[in-house]
Amino acid sequence: MTATLHSLPKITDPRGNLSFFQDRVPIPFNIAKVQWIYDVPGGATSYDNDTLEAEEFIIALSGSFDVVTDDSITKETFHLNRSYNGLLIPQGVRRTIENVSTNSIAVIVTSSQTEGSNQEHDIENQKLDNVHGCSIIELSKHHSDSKGNYSVVNNNCEIPFGVDRIYYLYDVPAGESRGGHAHKSLTQMLFAVSGSFKVELDDGNVKRSVMLNRPNQGLLIKPGIWRTLDDFSSGSVCLVIASKEYDESDYIREYDDFIKYRQEKKFLDTV
Ligand code: TYD
Repeated sequence: MTATLHSLPKITDPRGNLSFFQDRVPIPFNIAKVQWIYDVPGGATSYDNDTLEAEEFIIALSGSFDVVTDDSITKETFHLNRSYNGLLIPQGVRRTIENVSTNSIAVIVTSSQTEGSNQEHDIENQKLDNVHGCSIIELSKHHSDSKGNYSVVNNNCEIPFGVDRIYYLYDVPAGESRGGHAHKSLTQMLFAVSGSFKVELDDGNVKRSVMLNRPNQGLLIKPGIWRTLDDFSSGSVCLVIASKEYDESDYIREYDDFIKYRQEKKFLDTV
């Protein structure tokens, strides 16, 4: 089995581009773990895969790098430099990330969790169904001088839900806005894996503004919260980890409908 390149959907928009993938589409596995590597010194060689038992999907969310694969018969080099392409690494294939460009972000999605991963999040606050239930979760920042930093999310461990879908916003012109909707049952975590942006949260009663500007700091957005993203810095990338697959009927796109929805309290059905 060798590694294969896959194109992801790219939804182009004057407010920036969006790409996504979810459990089994187009990757052939269910997402169990997501990690991202950042602040890697330019030219460095970075991490090998931890285990040959898992499948992986690797994306250059920003910048570029090579993935060198070895299935013990053939060695191949894949150059990743587009946010909408991913490299699928089957089980049994060893890989290394090399020639990392300055400011690049590698996202690696894996079919199995890190053994012994623990729940680290603050459950009490997360029970609230208003803007205060949207907590900021600080992930550990694993650091190595020569290889940069990485952060990891395992299903239901560092974050309070299982990951079914990943999407990300990139090429967002500086100062643009995104979002402007709520979800009925979707829970999400947003990360500024590059640059920064502001998230305006609104539960129909109270508004709260959160600035995201660290790759290891995520904002939990619960169902029934209206959100708008704005003040994107240039070159910023918003990585979203979502609890469910894409479903247009889960969106509330009109603010008046959102207020009605809150009043009817249907949003209490959570993750
Ligand atoms: P939307 O969630 O409205 O983006 P934003 O809130 O950032 O403006 O999504 C934009 C478009 O992309 C919308 O037409 C639906 C499509 N889309 C998918 O097909 N799958 C996905 O996972 C996401 C997030 C969006």
